[in-house]
Amino acid sequence: MHCAASTRCPMSTEPLLTVANLSKRFPVATDFFGRPSTFVSAVDDVGLQVERGETLALVGESGSGKSTLARLILRLIEPTAGSVRFDGLDVLNSGKSQMLEFRRKAQIIFQDPFESLDPRMKGEVIVAEGMSQVGRSKAERKERVAELLDLVQLPADAAQRFPHEFSGGQRQRLSIARALAVDPIFVVADEPVSALDVSMQSQILNLMRDLQDRLGLTYLFISHDMSVIRHMADRVAVMYLGRMVEIGPAAEVFSNPIHPYTQALLSAVPSLIVGGEPPAMLGYEAAREAIGECSSDRGLQPVAGQPNHLVACFGQDAWTRHRGQQ
Ligand SMILES: Nc1ncnc2c1ncn2[C@@H]1O[C@H](COP(=O)(O)OP(=O)(O)OP(=O)(O)O)[C@@H](O)[C@H]1O
Ligand SMILES: [Mg+2]
Repeated sequence: MHCAASTRCPMSTEPLLTVANLSKRFPVATDFFGRPSTFVSAVDDVGLQVERGETLALVGESGSGKSTLARLILRLIEPTAGSVRFDGLDVLNSGKSQMLEFRRKAQIIFQDPFESLDPRMKGEVIVAEGMSQVGRSKAERKERVAELLDLVQLPADAAQRFPHEFSGGQRQRLSIARALAVDPIFVVADEPVSALDVSMQSQILNLMRDLQDRLGLTYLFISHDMSVIRHMADRVAVMYLGRMVEIGPAAEVFSNPIHPYTQALLSAVPSLIVGGEPPAMLGYEAAREAIGECSSDRGLQPVAGQPNHLVACFGQDAWTRHRGQQ
């Protein structure tokens, strides 16, 4: 475990991030009077912890709630229920100054840097954007930008170039430099390499690992791609239709996946998921019943002999019954 970026770290045994019972329902239809009548449970009663210095990878199909969970954790949207504790802070009950400090410590990198970079800004302006202006002269800011560009292995002249003058991989390096400009301790990476070709992907992943080692960063790394997850994760959390279905050390989840959904994801044949039917065709609730829920206990249970490997209680009967109907 790394501790370099946090002075409180050596004494603290608390995980950097603790999420409990987090839920978000979005209204998707309204009734005659314009009141929300139908909701989608994008995130449903999710709990997890992230230790300092580790990479927790969040995996699941499109629509499983990964980005919504990330946005809830960063308080970019407000939850329907639940709590988020980060570095000693009760995030959802924090005031303005605490939130400013939280926003500095917890950064996000997105899938498509082109969309998140202002096309009219030069590299140096983009990187310096979030940097504290307080107590820094122009020369100091320039020097810091040069340092950051070097850190993400961009040439010095990147400072003078506009986003369209970079390759996709270089743009992602630029957005990483921008995120690091405020000295965060936690970085959420939401599908950071999904828009890149394969050779570029491994370069960015290697850079991220290198930066983690050098700066003591903690990552919440989101991807739907198991080979990318394999490359990055210390632990893996699997989401399915808004629920956490399995979480554990990467080696255990990959060698001994317990939940049928994790097994289906690892089999790399998406059509096997939920007995051959994509969730949308099966119907939201039916899919959840088939794979995600026992009638009584929805909590995660430890796998025998693997206390850190937890799996959601799943209706084996329902699963078998469902598959029997195919
Ligand atoms: N603002 C919103 N309003 C209504 N529904 C939403 C909203 N944001 C997300 N959803 C729904 O919540 C569910 C989860 O979406 P989310 O974007 O979190 O999934 P994801 O796992 O990140 O998917 P992807 O891999 O495609 O990025 C989806 O059914 C989505 O349609
Ligand atoms: Mg997403």
